[in-house]
Amino acid sequence: ESLAPFDLVLFGATGDLSMRKLLPALYRRHSAGQLPDNGRIIATARSELDRSAFIERVRENLATRLAADELTEGDWQSFTERLQFVSVDASEPRGFADLAEALAGREAHCRVFYLAVAPRHFVDICEHLNDHGLVSAQARVVLEKPLGHDLASAQAISERIGAIFAEDAIYRIDHYLGKETVQNLMALRFGNMLFEPLWRRDWVRDVQISVAEQVGVSGRAGFYDRTGALRDMVQNHLLQLLCIIAMEPPTSIEADAVRDEKLKVLRALTRLEGKDALRNTVRGQYRAGAINGQPVSGYLDEEGVPGDSRTETFVALRTELANWRWAGVPFYLRTGKRLQERTAEIVVNFRDVPHSIFHVTYGAGQPNRLVIRLQPDEGVRMHMMAKSPGDQMELRPVALNLDFAEAFQGRQADAYERLLMDVLRGRLTLFMRRDELYSAWDWIEPILQAWDTAGDAPKPYTAGTWGPAASSALLGREDASWHEES
Ligand code: BG6
Repeated sequence: ESLAPFDLVLFGATGDLSMRKLLPALYRRHSAGQLPDNGRIIATARSELDRSAFIERVRENLATRLAADELTEGDWQSFTERLQFVSVDASEPRGFADLAEALAGREAHCRVFYLAVAPRHFVDICEHLNDHGLVSAQARVVLEKPLGHDLASAQAISERIGAIFAEDAIYRIDHYLGKETVQNLMALRFGNMLFEPLWRRDWVRDVQISVAEQVGVSGRAGFYDRTGALRDMVQNHLLQLLCIIAMEPPTSIEADAVRDEKLKVLRALTRLEGKDALRNTVRGQYRAGAINGQPVSGYLDEEGVPGDSRTETFVALRTELANWRWAGVPFYLRTGKRLQERTAEIVVNFRDVPHSIFHVTYGAGQPNRLVIRLQPDEGVRMHMMAKSPGDQMELRPVALNLDFAEAFQGRQADAYERLLMDVLRGRLTLFMRRDELYSAWDWIEPILQAWDTAGDAPKPYTAGTWGPAASSALLGREDASWHEES
C-alpha cells in the first residue's frame, strides 16, 4: 500500500547507526519505489556541515555499503532531493529553531523523530522538540536501545518522554524483531497446524537461544565497558526472541494483541536472584586468541577498556517459565563476542521417543530438533531420525532443510528497512511497549545485583572458542548440550 507524505527527522545522521544501517535502508526503500514523492529526510547532527557536504558523505558511505548495481545515478539523484540537513546540538535550543523552520507548514503530515543518538540525549531532544512546538498530532518518536541502564533509569527516561509523546507514538526499536526469520518464526508457529500442538512442556525437552558474534568491542569500548553482554544483548534481543518462541497465540497480529502475550512471557520468567542467579548464569570475558585464523587481542587489551575491567563479554544462562505451557522446561540463553562463529539460532529440542525398537547408528538419544537460523543464512531445519540405506534397519539423524534464500528468490530486506517502513506506516507490532521494557529490566536487575555482590571476575575464554567451559557445564548438568553445527 502507498505511504502518506512524511518528514523523517534523523538525529545523529552522521553517526555510526545512521551511516551503517538507516541511510542505506532508506536509500533501498527509495530505489524500490516505496517512498512517496513528498517524503523528506531531514538529517540533523551536531557537526556544522552544510547540505552538500552531508550529501557527499552519504554518497561515500553508500558506495562502501551497497552493491555496485544498487547505487545508480538516477536513484541517487532522486534520493538526494529528499535530503535536507540542519545542524542541531541536542543540548542547545538554537538548532531546534532552524529545525522548526524546516518543518513549518507541514504539521498535517506524518512526522517522525528518529533518535539515533546516545540515550543520554533522548530527554533533552524531546523536551526541545516540545518547547519548539514540533510535537504535532502526527508526530512519532523512534528510540534506539539501550533504553536505560537499569529499571530506575529506564523508568526515568520513559516517564519524561511519556509526558511529551503518547505511548502509541513511541517506537522502541529492537532490531532483532525486524529480522526476517523472527517474523518467520511467528509464521511457523501461527500459520501452521503442525508445530503448535507440540509446542509445550509435554513434548519439548529444552529450548536454546544462542547469538554468537565474532566481532570484539573495538571502536565502542567506552559504551560496552559500562554495559556488558547481559544489558547489551540479553535484556533486549534474546528476551524478545524468547517471547516470540514462548508466547501464547495472540488473537490477532495487532500491536497490543502481540505485546500483551509477550508481556505475559516476561512476567512468567523465573527470577534469578542471589545464589540461584550465580548457579544459573555464566559470565565470561575473552582473552587473546584467533578468529578465522587471525590473531585478535583480549578484551582487557582493547583500546579504552580499563585493565581491571570485570565487564562480561559472554553470558550463558538457564531459566524457566512459570506457566502451564512451559513449567519445568529449561530455556538456555547464550551470547558473546569473539566466539568461534557468527551464528544466531533458536533450537527447540523435542523429547526422545519413550522406547526405541531400532538400532541407532549414531545420534542415539538425540531428539528431534527444530533449528531456526537467523544468521548468517536464514532458514529452518528439522532434524529427524531416518533409516540409513542398506539392508539393515539402522537409524540415523537427517535434516529437512528449508533455506529461505532458495525458497524465496531475491535479497532479504534488512531489519532496519522493515522497521523504518513500519514506523512510517504506523505499525507498532514489532516495537516494544513500555511495560515490556520495564519487565525485561525487572528480570535482569537481580542477576546484575547477584554478580555485583559475588564480586568475582568473569571467567576467561580464548577468543575464537565457544566461551568458558562453564557454559557447557551449565547444560551438562541436565544431560543437554549446546547445539553447535559446523
Ligand atoms: C546490538 C549490540 O544491539 O546488536 C551489538 O549493541 C551487537 O553489540 C549487535 O553487535 C548485533 O546485531 P546483529 O544484527 O549484527 O546480530
